[in-house]
Order: sequence, then structure tokens, then C-alpha cells
Amino acid sequence: MAAGKGTRLKSRLPKVLHEIAGKPLLAHVIATASKVVPPENIFAIIGHEAGRVRSAVETTGINFIVQAEQRGTGHAIMVAHGSLQGFEHVLVLSGDVPLITPETIAQVRDFHVSNKAAMTVLTARPADPTGYGRVVRKLVDGDPTHEVDRIVEQKSLRDDESKLQEINSGIYAFAVGPLYAHIDRLTTNNEHREFYLTDMAEILGKAGQRVIATPASDTKEVLGVNTRMELAQLDAQLRDKKARELMEAGITIFRPETCGIDADVEVGPDTVIEPFVQIIGKTKIGADCRIRSYSVITNCTIEDRVLLLPGCILEDSVVRKGARLGPYSHLRPGSDIGEDAHVGNFVETKKLRLGKGSKANHLTYLGDADIGEGVNVGAGTITCNYDGVNKHKTTIHDGAFIGSDATLVAPVRVGRGAYVGAASCITADVPADSLAIGRGRQIVKEGWAKQHRAQQGGKQK
Ligand code: UD1
Ligand code: CA
Repeated sequence: MAAGKGTRLKSRLPKVLHEIAGKPLLAHVIATASKVVPPENIFAIIGHEAGRVRSAVETTGINFIVQAEQRGTGHAIMVAHGSLQGFEHVLVLSGDVPLITPETIAQVRDFHVSNKAAMTVLTARPADPTGYGRVVRKLVDGDPTHEVDRIVEQKSLRDDESKLQEINSGIYAFAVGPLYAHIDRLTTNNEHREFYLTDMAEILGKAGQRVIATPASDTKEVLGVNTRMELAQLDAQLRDKKARELMEAGITIFRPETCGIDADVEVGPDTVIEPFVQIIGKTKIGADCRIRSYSVITNCTIEDRVLLLPGCILEDSVVRKGARLGPYSHLRPGSDIGEDAHVGNFVETKKLRLGKGSKANHLTYLGDADIGEGVNVGAGTITCNYDGVNKHKTTIHDGAFIGSDATLVAPVRVGRGAYVGAASCITADVPADSLAIGRGRQIVKEGWAKQHRAQQGGKQK
């Protein structure tokens, strides 16, 4: 179920597209469900901003059901009727309960099937049950059984029910036959004027069907996201889990609570991650690296023994073995930093291949450039890659030396082993092993300064 608006988030973004650990809530649920049943048997009920929700998760290969008007969780399941023809059982998950695990979903399914139930509810006993529907179990001689009498929503709790601790997780298994044989008995006779799926517990029970509950082994798995606070709490929980997994696999993370590492990130052993680092998306980091503080790495491949000094921002790039970056290097998409290469402070790159052992250590822009091995790029070098209409390429061959403050006006090529004099504006190709100097010649006027001061009133010091 993912059709709701998520009013309590006060957002223009549909609730299920809000992200925790770098992925929309719904994407977490779909990824988990896909480990239990094949994607062709998964249906997402969408409605509010359906187009946007669909396109965010379309690549998962699941199916979609549109609930055009959102009249409650019961109504969502009514709308799904046609799609469930031919299925004997259906597992119902909530798009806003993202930490559920495949094991727990399988537990609900197995408990449901082995007990031949019409409805099985996954429950929990959180420290604070406020806001959740409560499960009222049937009693035998005053003791609760695993059969459910009814589910009462928070707003409908009577005084004597307010102490009920067991909550409805919003995750269920239903036998499809009895569900749809009785679903038209749901009414909107409640606080929200909605069809509550939870009312099916009482309806099926009264129809002589078995309605049972099974508790989740870990309460954290069934926490829902209805507010921004809960969004932040669940994000923190997933980040914490990820950091623990990495630490168990041999990665050092100092102050893990300050780091944001996305679920799909991979890191090799003995890499050290310092405080306040973000590692985002499909980033892969090798072994024996050190990622110093305030670095943000998005969708990058970083090989072994790489050192990132503080404050590096890297996106869609590759950094090869033994390279050293930073502090404050900015790799924009398409950068490929070669083995043992150095990229220093305030160096910005884009679509750059920097060869093995090459260095660009200070205050430089290298865009649309192909730089060979053992090249030294001096401080303040700029590739002028854009003529206002098109982008052009700069090629620098192995062993070249680019003096400080050179501007390389692309398209241009600097040959193997060539030198470019400092402060040159290079507009034509430089042949191999030559020296190119492209700057105004220096003029020296002997005594000029002294004379100047004398003319200004003789205030000589
Ligand atoms: C629901 C349960 C509550 C349970 C809680 C667990 C009902 C009436 N109550 O409450 O007992 O404790 O979940 O998290 O079911 N949705 C639709 N279409 C709709 C309405 C909702 O698809 O018309 C989807 C929402 O997008 C969401 C899910 O159903 O993913 C749950 O809806 P929500 O409004 O968040 O229900 P809760 O108030 O949390
Ligand atoms: Ca909810």
C-alpha cells in the first residue's frame, strides 16, 4: 500500500518517496518483498502522485494498481481485487514501514499458512504504542490466545483499551477468498471517514474465519514513518545498522553516528572512515583506504590504498590504487584519477583522465582533458574547454610539464615530454620535447620606481 499522501509529513513529496539511508521508503519495502516473492507477483497500490511514485520504482519490475481516490487502507485492498485473481494468499505490506525484513515477512506467511488463517496480523510491543492501531486478542480463561478479536485505531480507543500495548504493524497475510467475500462489509463509520483494513479482523472473526496475530521478533522492524521525526529516527537506525555491518567486516569507522553511509555502499577491509563522512549511492571503496573528515562521495569507485584528505567532494568518478586527493578536491562526473596520482587542494575536475603518477596539486580546473602518465600540472592551470557553445578537449601526453598559471585553450595538445612555460596561454599544439612560452615578454625599466616616488612628492622611505 503506497497510495497515501502522508499528510503528517507536511510535504509536497508523496510520503513513500521520502528517503531513508538514501533510498525512498517504498524502494526499501519493494527490495525486501522481492526477496520473498518474485517481482511479477508484487503489486504496489499507488494513487497520490501516482506517476511520480511509479517512475521512482519502475525499474524493480513490479506491477502497479492505481487507487485513484484514497479512501483508506481497506479501500486500497478493495481496488486490488482484480489483480489478485488466481492467488490463494496475499501478503499486505505498508509503503511506510520500511525496516521489515524478508525473514519476518516469511514468518507471517508461514504462520498464516500453517494455521489455515483467513487473516494474520504482524504485531509488536514498542515502548510507546501511541499512534498505532491496537490488537485486542481473544481471551480464554482471562489469558490471551493467538486469535484476534479486533483491531482498534488510536483515535477510537476507549479508556479501558488505552493501556493495550500490542500494536498492529500494518503488515498482514490474508486468504484471498474470505477477504473479498467479506470486504464489502467495511464501512467509513469512523473518525477519518475511511475504509479501515483493520476492521477486517472483526468482520472475518464474526464470519467464523480464523484471525490470528504473530509478534515480530524485533520491534524496530515494524516502526512506521508518519512524521519527519520518525523519518529521521528510521534513517539513523539504518545508518547505524550499515555502520555496524561494515565494522564487523573489518572497516574502521570513527564516530559512526556522524557518518551517512548508504545501504548499497561497499567498503574493503582496513579502510578507515573518519567522522562526518558521507558515502552515497553505489559507491565502492577498496581496502586500506583512508577517508578523512567532511568528504562526500557519490557513486564512485575507489580502489585500494587511496587517501582522501579532508573535504573532498567526489561524484560518478574512479580513483585508482594509491592515489591521493585533497584537501578540498572536487571530482565532478567522469573523472578517472590514475594509480598513485595526486590531486590537491581546490582542484576541480570533470571528464578528466589523469594518468598514473601524474600530479595536479593546487588551484586548478581540468575539464574534458586526457592527461598521460607522469605529467606535472602546475598551480593555477586552467583548461579552457568551453567556447560558449561547445566543449573541447585538451590532451597532455606522458611526461609533460605544465608551468603554473597556464591556460590551455582547447582543442589543444601538449606532446610527450614537452614544457609549457609558467603563465602561458597555449592556443596551438605543443610538439613533443619542446618548450612553449605564450606570454608577454617582461620589460624592465631601471630606476623607474625611484623616479616615480620622487614625482609623487619625494615621500621616499
Ligand atoms: C495503519 C493502521 C494502523 C497501524 C499502522 C501501522 C489502518 C486503518 N490503520 O495506520 O492500525 O498501526 O498502519 O503503521 O490501516 N494507503 C493507501 N491508500 C489509502 C490509505 C493509505 O495506499 O487510501 C497506504 C499509505 O500510503 C501507507 C499505508 O497505506 O503506506 C498505511 O496508511 P497510513 O495512513 O499511514 O495508516 P496509519 O494511520 O499509519
Ligand atoms: Ca502509517
